[in-house]
Amino acid sequence: MAARTARAMVAATAVVAATAAIAAGCSVEEATVAGVAYFSRRCTDQVPLVAALRDSIAVGDLSAARDAYIAARPPYEEIETLANVPTVTPLDTKIDARPYALPGGEDAVAWQGFHEVERALYRDNDLGVAFKATVVLMQSVQSLCAVLAEADPSQFTPSRTWDGMLALAYEVPAKKMSSEEEAWSDASMMIFRHNAVGIYSQFAPFKDAGMDAAAATAVDAAYARLVQQYTWADPEHGFNTTDGVARPYSKVPVKPRRLLQARFYDLAAALAAARDTLDGVSEAEAEEGEEGGEPSPLDGDDVYRAETLAGVAGFSRQCALQQAALRNLSHAIAGGDVDVVKAAYTAARPMYEQIETLAGAFEAEDTAIDARPYAFDEGELSPEWAGMHLVERAVYRDGDMAVAAAGTEEVTTVVDTLCAKLASAPSTPGFVTAALTWDGILALAEEVPAKKISSEEETWSDLSLLIFRENAKGIATLYEPFAGRLSAATRAACIGALSAIRSSFEDTIDAGNDWETGLAFRPYSSVPAAERRIIHRQFYRLSRVMQVAKRELEAAASAA
Ligand SMILES: *[C@@H]1O[C@H](CO)[C@@H](O)[C@H](O)[C@H]1NC(C)=O
Ligand SMILES: *[C@@H]1O[C@H](CO)[C@@H](O)[C@H](O)[C@H]1NC(C)=O
Repeated sequence: MAARTARAMVAATAVVAATAAIAAGCSVEEATVAGVAYFSRRCTDQVPLVAALRDSIAVGDLSAARDAYIAARPPYEEIETLANVPTVTPLDTKIDARPYALPGGEDAVAWQGFHEVERALYRDNDLGVAFKATVVLMQSVQSLCAVLAEADPSQFTPSRTWDGMLALAYEVPAKKMSSEEEAWSDASMMIFRHNAVGIYSQFAPFKDAGMDAAAATAVDAAYARLVQQYTWADPEHGFNTTDGVARPYSKVPVKPRRLLQARFYDLAAALAAARDTLDGVSEAEAEEGEEGGEPSPLDGDDVYRAETLAGVAGFSRQCALQQAALRNLSHAIAGGDVDVVKAAYTAARPMYEQIETLAGAFEAEDTAIDARPYAFDEGELSPEWAGMHLVERAVYRDGDMAVAAAGTEEVTTVVDTLCAKLASAPSTPGFVTAALTWDGILALAEEVPAKKISSEEETWSDLSLLIFRENAKGIATLYEPFAGRLSAATRAACIGALSAIRSSFEDTIDAGNDWETGLAFRPYSSVPAAERRIIHRQFYRLSRVMQVAKRELEAAASAA
């Protein structure tokens, strides 16, 4: 262990040495250039690794190709620290996007990059797809190397470098650790390690650019502690490996995960404090996106009013059940028996997972009830993060009943507000429209396969099957009142897609757990990849038929 730790320290020092080769007393611009130069070298390392990946795929040996995939990941996971730089952002999408970043998810024609190769190699065992994807990836990597070599100072600014460092330092603990993993290859530890190296590589040159010495020392100490914690979480491989090999993330127990997460948050906080001691690295202005979109024929308050309100009434009934379930949960928490509390937590989840289909009508309440930590800049450290996932973490991970009680009380207040809003929908013009209903149906039908199945789970409680089942019911509740307004063919397609989901749950995926009321869910971690794939396909099918339905309703509304 001591030798490992010593080697980890060597690794940390090696990164400093790699980037700090500039004269003492530099400007923040020079520090930025030094960081970009390091990434330019890493990009040069990346090219032969992608070539080796392509070549081993061409040979046709799946196991060797998987090894080459892992070996090819580290450089980009460092470079992505600067994915916020405008000339890098589109390349980041091509190289490293996860499916949910694109409309259409895995079905999107534009989806490409490492994760497409990962899926082909680990889920589909399809070397032909992997080869084509790697050839495309190579072109993107070469473009990236050109951008980094040019290092255009109007693009790579000190402020953007700091924005990138901080965004990644918070993203790792807030998002990647609890939900977004290297889902198919189980290689998240490698990702965390090289994200850390990338962040530190950009920070180090700024120590000579007028940074307060104590603040710089605090970042160094936070980084060293992170390296040490990582080494404890993966003693077999340690921090100092460049070949990407690491302990499978699914094998890292909850406690070391939590400690590693805490060390990332510490690093992020130390970096934020260090930034404050520098001149010329203020937060970059957020670039405003175009507010796009044609007005929909479903936008008006009177269009399909009865159908829309019928769906909301269904959710109003669910909301009353949600209130009762939260009272039960509070009661169970006060009793303090963890198994009873877990059962009450499970019983309190289904209702909102239906109601959330309409979250576009009550975004503030949705955030307060159901947000995951990465929805906030500071992740779990954000004082604004609250809701069911906070209760979930307190119950399942920490066994902390005081936090669970306070969290439940807070959720209850918000749910009360939500129920009042839903109940008064008929007398509140503009609260819901047919457009909001259908946007909600389509967004959720797509979010389940594009995001929730591959990465965002009910992480601590392993209850993702509950989520998928109730999401499907929520979509059905909003859809059903409209069924009579659709053509027979479209209606049959919609009903077919909804009942296919139900049958696969009842027959295989969650067999034995009653679809309507059962709470004995199969743990999602024990659902094999082939069955996850079935859920995935069926929700995409649902998403496609619902798009057809929406277009029919729009056409009818325009014609009216
Ligand atoms: C990794 O450790 C070895 C010694 O075990 C050392 O020679 C090498 O420089 C280290 N590499 C990095 C990147 O720190
Ligand atoms: C609340 O608990 C009571 C008593 O155990 C039970 O009958 C009821 O179904 C529970 N309500 C909900 C919504 O879980």
